[in-house]
Amino acid sequence: MSSPKKIALGLLIGQAAGGHPAAWLHPSTNAAGSTSIDYFRDLAQLAERGCFDMFFIADTPAARTDNLHAWSRFPMFMNVLEPVTLLTALAGATRRIGLGGTVSTSFSEPYNVARQFASLDHISAGRAAWNVVTSANDYAARNFGHATLPPHALRYEKASEFVDVVNALWDSWDDDAFILDRSSGLFFDPARQHAVHHQGKFFKVDGALNIARSPQGKPVIIQAGASDTGLELAARTAEVVFASASNPQDAKRGYDDLKGRMAKHGRDPASMKILAGLPVVIGRSQQEAEDKQQALQEMIHPDVGRFRLGSDLEADLSDLPLDEPIPESRLPKSANLHKAFFDGIMKIIREENPTLRQLYLRYERGRKTIKGTPSQIADVMEEWIALGAADGFMMQFATLPDGLQDFVTLVVPELQRRGMFRTEYAGATLRDHLGLTRPANPLTT
Ligand SMILES: Cc1cc2nc3c(=O)[nH]c(=O)nc-3n(C[C@H](O)[C@H](O)[C@H](O)COP(=O)(O)O)c2cc1C
Repeated sequence: MSSPKKIALGLLIGQAAGGHPAAWLHPSTNAAGSTSIDYFRDLAQLAERGCFDMFFIADTPAARTDNLHAWSRFPMFMNVLEPVTLLTALAGATRRIGLGGTVSTSFSEPYNVARQFASLDHISAGRAAWNVVTSANDYAARNFGHATLPPHALRYEKASEFVDVVNALWDSWDDDAFILDRSSGLFFDPARQHAVHHQGKFFKVDGALNIARSPQGKPVIIQAGASDTGLELAARTAEVVFASASNPQDAKRGYDDLKGRMAKHGRDPASMKILAGLPVVIGRSQQEAEDKQQALQEMIHPDVGRFRLGSDLEADLSDLPLDEPIPESRLPKSANLHKAFFDGIMKIIREENPTLRQLYLRYERGRKTIKGTPSQIADVMEEWIALGAADGFMMQFATLPDGLQDFVTLVVPELQRRGMFRTEYAGATLRDHLGLTRPANPLTT
C-alpha cells in the first residue's frame, strides 16, 4: 500500500493571544504577548517541536483611529511587532521552521521588500516567505498619503507589477556571483550581475539588489487573495496560497480552479501548495471543545460583534437594534475590501435573515471552527486531504499558546501515526519542507 500524502502545516498568527476575537480576555492567554519576543520565541519553538512547516504572521501597516470604543475591546493589529523585524529575531531562536510574514504591495517599494526578505532568507539559512497582500483597509491607506484604498483592480495591477520587480531583483545576481577571490582581488565576478531595468505603470527600478542571491534562490511567495483577480495573481506567481473555504467540497472546487489556472502561465500545479485555513478548538471530548468555543463566543462584547460585522459588510451598523435583522437597504451591493468575507455574510443574511446579535455570535470570517477531540480533528484533516481539497493547513488556534500546545502534543502524533505528517524535518529550508524546488536563476548562462 502506498503511504498517504504528507501534508504541510503552517501556524497562522493574527492576534498574538489567538484567533478568537475575545482571545486576549481569556485567562489562559498572555495579553502582553503581542510585543514580547520571549512570547513569540516560545510559540515558534513549540511549533518547531511539532515539525510545522512555517510560522506565519499576518499584518497591516496601521492602527485603527476611529471607533475606538469597539477597537479598544478587540485590539487586532493595535499593538504589534513589525513582521520582518519579528521574524528576523525568530530566525535566531529557531533552526528549521519556515518564517512567513506579510508586507503590503500597496504601501511599500519593491526594492525594500526584495532586500528585506532576501536578508531574512540569508539570516535564517533559507526559511523566509513573503505573504503578498494588497491590504484591505483605509487605515493603512491614510498612513501613506491616500484618503482611501485605491480600487481593488488597481491594487492588484500594482501588486502584479510589484511581484515581478521583486522577482527580478532576487535574480539580479547569479548564485555564485560573490566569488571572494583574494588571489585575483575580485569580491564578485562582474559578469554575474544582472541589473534590473524596469519601467512600468507603477514602478521604475534601475539597479541590482545589494545582497547575494539567497539560500532558497528566492524566498517563498505566499498569497491569500480570494477574488478572481487575486486568484489570477496567485496562479501566475504564488507558491503557497492560503485558502479559506469553510467545507471540503467548496475547498476542492477552489483547489481545482486555482491549480487549473496555472497551466496558461506554464506552471506545474505541483509548484504551488494550497493550505486551507483550519481554525480548531481541541477538547478531551467534543462537548469540552464545544464548551470552550461557546465560552469564548460569549466573551465577545456586543460593540465588538456589531463592529466586526460592520467592517466586513462595509456599513455602519452602530444605530441598529441587536435583536432585529439588518435591513438589506443599509448594505452596499458589493465589496471593495474583503470580497470573500462580504459575500459570505450576505449569503447568511439572504438565506436565514438572522438578527444582528445572532449573526455576530456565529460569524467566523469565512471559516468554520472545528471543535473536537484530537482524533476527530485528524479525521477532518484526513478527509480534506483524501478529497484533494488542500495540500495542507494553516492552523488557527482560538487561544494561544494552549491551542498550539494541545495540537502539538495530541493531534500531531495522531497525524504521524496515520502517516500523514513528518516525524522530523528531512531538509533544511522552507522549500525543502514544502517540497518546492529551488528556482534556478533564468539569467544565468
Ligand atoms: C488566510 C488569510 C490571511 C490573510 N492575511 C492578510 C494579512 O495578514 N494582511 C492583509 O492585509 N490581508 C490579509 N488577507 C487578505 C488577502 O490577502 C486579500 O488582500 C484580501 O482577501 C482582499 O483581496 P481579495 O479581494 O482578492 O480577496 C488574508 C486573507 C486570508 C484568506
